[in-house]
Amino acid sequence: MRICVCVSGGGTNLQAIYDAMDDGRIKNAEIVRVISNNPGAYALERAKAHGSEAVCISPKTFPDREAFNEALLAGIKECNPELVVLAGFLVNVPACVIREFKNRIINIHPSLIPSFCGKGYYGLKVHEGVLARGVKVTGATVHFVDEGIDTGRIIAQKAVDVCEGDTPEILQKRVMEQAEWIILPDTVSKIAAGEIKIGE
Ligand code: GRF
Repeated sequence: MRICVCVSGGGTNLQAIYDAMDDGRIKNAEIVRVISNNPGAYALERAKAHGSEAVCISPKTFPDREAFNEALLAGIKECNPELVVLAGFLVNVPACVIREFKNRIINIHPSLIPSFCGKGYYGLKVHEGVLARGVKVTGATVHFVDEGIDTGRIIAQKAVDVCEGDTPEILQKRVMEQAEWIILPDTVSKIAAGEIKIGE
């Protein structure tokens, strides 16, 4: 199964998928291209180190949003993926991409959707919201991407305890280690094995 992964930052979720491919937890799948909107994303270095094509498609290099959207669609279509994975991709995916890859795009979100998600909830802001509300349990969610923000069908979730004295950074790391880096590779593995259907 050909996979295209879209990233914006450090790429630890991308790395978790690579690690699962290397140790056999994910079979019959290959990350053929990694696309980032951010030229400085360390995720692009991780891609090159693992032999994937690493491509930067930055909105800053296009005259307007429409031109960027078209370039992003072309950049994804060009590698002919069966599955598109958003792994810390901080760009609102344009409708043209959602339509072209209907039910073939999955995203990892660092909370238990429908809590702490939607507009403005990304990266550390998610964990700041969790701590401010005082919930005792949080976690991560893998979901299909539709035209809303974090509104697509939920595929997998994993809960993580909020601990006394947690800072947003400490909580983010625990959610990554104990949830994100587990359920995202596991979901990719199940899709590659045909246990989770896509494109329907
Ligand atoms: C992760 O917390 C992920 O849940 C969120 O953005 C962060 C990306 O981290 N979408 P990384 O780039 O995978 O390290």
